[in-house]
Amino acid sequence: MADATLIDGKAMAAGLTESIKADTAVLAKHGITPGLAVVIVGEDSASQVYVRNKKRTAESCGFHSVQHSVDRNCSQDELLALIQTLNEDTQIHGILVQLPIPEHLDETTITQSILPAKDVDGFHYENIGKLTAGNLEGTFVPCTPAGCMLMIEEQLGKDLSGLDAVVIGRSNIVGKPMASLLLAANATVTVCHSRTRNLPQVARRADILVAAVGRANMVKGDWVKPGAVVIDVGINRIDVTIDGEAKSKLTGDVQFEEAARTAAAITPVPGGVGPMTIAMLMANTLRAAERTLKGG
Ligand code: GUN
Repeated sequence: MADATLIDGKAMAAGLTESIKADTAVLAKHGITPGLAVVIVGEDSASQVYVRNKKRTAESCGFHSVQHSVDRNCSQDELLALIQTLNEDTQIHGILVQLPIPEHLDETTITQSILPAKDVDGFHYENIGKLTAGNLEGTFVPCTPAGCMLMIEEQLGKDLSGLDAVVIGRSNIVGKPMASLLLAANATVTVCHSRTRNLPQVARRADILVAAVGRANMVKGDWVKPGAVVIDVGINRIDVTIDGEAKSKLTGDVQFEEAARTAAAITPVPGGVGPMTIAMLMANTLRAAERTLKGG
């Protein structure tokens, strides 16, 4: 079989960002500038890179973009007070607290303190509930699975009736919302995790295979059904030696070269899911701002 089609997340994200820019210009005529506040607690280096990219993209879309860098030792009450201020700030339409946060802070209390109408991450239980109930219009869908879904739709269309989808990973950020989205599109969905028996065998059933575990190159070529669409959510930094020199590089959860020989289409890492996640954050923030125009 010929090598798989490369799903170019970078190009798709650039297209989306262009249309978000245009819609932002329309909103400006109504006196509204979408406002995004990103809160980062501590110094995690991967998080710093993600947050910088989010801020840069927000600015390029014409958004009002603010970043709050909070000391890693801040108290829970201090962080909750900051979120409360952002909840009340009429110039801010979307609030995101970059995860992970330090251990002494309670992630659930923090994510649930963000107003559902400003929860552009889609982590509030009200939004999760709507997604699970199939009310996709009334909710904010978490950005990574939302981006994955657009890439799947580009390959297979909006209706996935009759197709088997396998999601590896059951996180609240990716695996579970991904399963809800695939189900809403009529796929037959299996969610796998560390306790799943015969994982390679289950994965081989998938017409759509989504890997979201955070383990470099875990999914091998012979886990992939011929003709499958493979979405690699993993962003893992691994050490490699190039010409005798120790370097680090980014790699996904899927053994790319092997899988690309069998799949019909596959996302690369980097340049696949990552840029789409950021574009979807912009789309959610734009929508949060548009909703204020429509009166909620
Ligand atoms: N850390 C890794 N992915 C995400 C995400 O989608 N949202 C937030 N808030 N933090 C993350």
